[in-house]
Amino acid sequence: MPRVKDPSLAERGRASIEWARARMPVLSEIAKRFLRERPLEGIKISASMHVTKETAVLMLTLRDGGAHVFLAPSNPLSTQDDVAAALAHEGIEVYAWRSMSDSEYLWAMEECLRAGPDVTMDDGGDLTVMAHEKGYSERISGGTEETTTGVLRERALEREGRLRYPIIAVNDAETKRSFDNVYGTGQSTIDGILRATSIMIAGKWFVVAGYGYVGRGISLRARGMGAKVIVTEVDPIRALMAAMDGFMVMPMREAAKIGDIFVTATGNRDVIRAEHLSLMKDGAMLANAGHFDVEVSVRDIELMALAKRDIRENLREYLLPNGRRIYLIAGGRLVNLVAAEGHPSEVMDMSFANQALSVEFLIKRRGEIPPRVIPVPRSIDEEVARIKLRSMGIEIDVLTREQEDYLRSWH
Ligand SMILES: NC(=O)c1ccc[n+]([C@@H]2O[C@H](COP(=O)([O-])OP(=O)(O)OC[C@H]3O[C@@H](n4cnc5c(N)ncnc54)[C@H](O)[C@@H]3O)[C@@H](O)[C@H]2O)c1
Repeated sequence: MPRVKDPSLAERGRASIEWARARMPVLSEIAKRFLRERPLEGIKISASMHVTKETAVLMLTLRDGGAHVFLAPSNPLSTQDDVAAALAHEGIEVYAWRSMSDSEYLWAMEECLRAGPDVTMDDGGDLTVMAHEKGYSERISGGTEETTTGVLRERALEREGRLRYPIIAVNDAETKRSFDNVYGTGQSTIDGILRATSIMIAGKWFVVAGYGYVGRGISLRARGMGAKVIVTEVDPIRALMAAMDGFMVMPMREAAKIGDIFVTATGNRDVIRAEHLSLMKDGAMLANAGHFDVEVSVRDIELMALAKRDIRENLREYLLPNGRRIYLIAGGRLVNLVAAEGHPSEVMDMSFANQALSVEFLIKRRGEIPPRVIPVPRSIDEEVARIKLRSMGIEIDVLTREQEDYLRSWH
């Protein structure tokens, strides 16, 4: 049976969803067309996504397209209970409440798979991996993936020849990755850190681990607030980019001694571990913006600490054997979703427009696409950008016939 924390929160959730929808013109335009054309009539979609007001707008868009939608969270801590209640009220089969246990989280996902979906929509790869491991993949015709970490896992399945249905890497669309990962995570990560700590950012040493899309956004926003930003990397090209963007670049073992605030954004594990923790200054704060809670080794912190106490919501103090105290924000889980509300609606508009159009594409091409991880078609990416620009009142130039010929010619 679908389950949310408190159905009586639905009214508040609905107001919140309306607030988001008003800032999501691209998805709203798609929803209007879906309502007219019903391209997903009779299709079952099982989604594992952060249950936020923006996800709600996406789920309702899919429903307007005719789909029967089942929704589980993609992180046990990121659900907005009022939004979950409102969605349940709108006929979405929701299995989500904030602070689920790990076993409840797995249960919620499996319930969505038991429903027998035609399409999976995933954020991080947990649902897709479960569909493959537990034998639910047979009748699934396709799936979509929202984030970098999920795409990496699904490509690993493909490499081993174990992927059973095609997955569209929504994360890799230009109108997703170059905006959501950069500006969305940049802003909402700072938001999460501020809500949890209420500190001043200006003048602080701010260490960002990883200079990919997410790390670049966080670095830009931290600098914008007056922080002195240090980047750590393992990729020489990304490190060079950070250096030429004007950031200091050094190994974590050096940055650890300097930083006041640390944020990981690598998609990797143990990026901050015991050897770094013992070098940190008294009062250092640690947060993670990568998909899983393995980037800051919480296990190492727990093993080392002599004592711990909660200072306020999402902020835990640990006393280390050297007498220094460090502060872990949001338990090392996605700081922007756990301590804040995730990305702003304006940017999720583009990510989720790609999701909705990718599902429509999968259904149109049902049975024709081999089981591979494939990109979002360029035409979808461009359509999303075009509608977004229009909604922002921005016009751009159009190539003249002569320019088109010139660009196509080898002369
Ligand atoms: N918080 C959010 O809302 C949100 C949004 C989008 C993506 N993500 C997640 O953020 C993570 C990063 O995504 P991305 O799109 O920036 O990926 P990316 O691949 O563009 O960037 C990751 C970077 O981390 C670097 N890296 C790897 N191991 C490292 C290490 N040990 N030390 C330092 N750097 C290291 C890589 O070289 C790479 O440059 C992923 O887990 C992704 O799923 C989170």
